[in-house]
Amino acid sequence: MAQIWPIGGGKGGSGKSFLASCLGRLLAGLGKKTLLVDLDLGSANLHTLVDVPYPEKSFSDFIRKKVPLLADVVLETPVPNLYIISGAHDNLDVANLPYEQKIKTLKAIAKLDYDWIMLDLGAGTSFNTLDFFLVSQSSIFVTTPEPTSIENIYRLVRAIYFRRIRQYFTVTEFGRLQDEVAQCFGEGAFNKPDLIMEFIRTNHPEKCSLLEEDFSSFRFKLVLNQLRKHNNIALGPQVCNIIEKHLGFHVDFAGNVAFDDRVHDAICQRVSFLERYPYTRTAYDLRELSKSLAQSAGQQMVIPYS
Ligand SMILES: Nc1ncnc2c1ncn2[C@@H]1O[C@H](COP(=O)(O)OP(=O)(O)OP(=O)(O)O)[C@@H](O)[C@H]1O
Ligand SMILES: [Mg+2]
Repeated sequence: MAQIWPIGGGKGGSGKSFLASCLGRLLAGLGKKTLLVDLDLGSANLHTLVDVPYPEKSFSDFIRKKVPLLADVVLETPVPNLYIISGAHDNLDVANLPYEQKIKTLKAIAKLDYDWIMLDLGAGTSFNTLDFFLVSQSSIFVTTPEPTSIENIYRLVRAIYFRRIRQYFTVTEFGRLQDEVAQCFGEGAFNKPDLIMEFIRTNHPEKCSLLEEDFSSFRFKLVLNQLRKHNNIALGPQVCNIIEKHLGFHVDFAGNVAFDDRVHDAICQRVSFLERYPYTRTAYDLRELSKSLAQSAGQQMVIPYS
């Protein structure tokens, strides 16, 4: 079974696709069959970052049933062991992917025969993006040091938390839960994870223990990308602490990745940043990150069941 790392972030431009492409190259370099899946369908561009300028097939061929298997739309890249499913040429937006197609995609991803799979997700908190994020226990949040980006990470984590709770209830039950939590703790209480869990603990104890077990199995990671020299290097761990304090689930700080102007240059020249600038702090950080991901690999995939 593949180790899956969805890469998400609340804000566009934080570096999800750049990180996915670099980590994909590095993981493939360790000799593991690695697949990048571009699920940022509305603005897919991952193929460009791994030097596949004109993808001749894409995710939409699978969704539109032009091919029977998701494996049929996998493309080789010039990097040995690195493959990609492009999201290009899609008028689809993952946010609008109908429910059946989302489930079909989740199941198809689980069946792919790769060692490591990275899912490049679009920014934002659409239900589909949250469900792709929740496909693994080791998903990765990417933020920059900017307060706006960090704020969006909190929003994303909170949305994921609520989405997971939602998956334990039917639509009707969940609607009732919202009303009952509001009656019990007052209007606005449904935005407070600790109050919701308290209510579930008292009124749905069997669901509560399943949920707590589920939350404790998460090993989500946070990467602080585009760290500049003057930024606080302890910011990432601080963000993780705040998430744990307010939402009650643990997020591992996976590391900083330094900002470097030459990332822009490499992308414009359509060359691999890692190959062109291997002795930069950023390349070093990316290599360290890939090693720690490789070491942490081995967790099971989870398919949301509703
Ligand atoms: N470590 C870095 N140092 C310098 N620039 C960076 C770094 N990481 C990313 N960038 C810059 O940020 C830009 C946006 O990165 P990227 O496209 O990976 O973001 P994204 O999170 O995938 O955005 P979107 O949500 O819009 O898909 C890149 O074009 C690159 O120029
Ligand atoms: Mg992107």
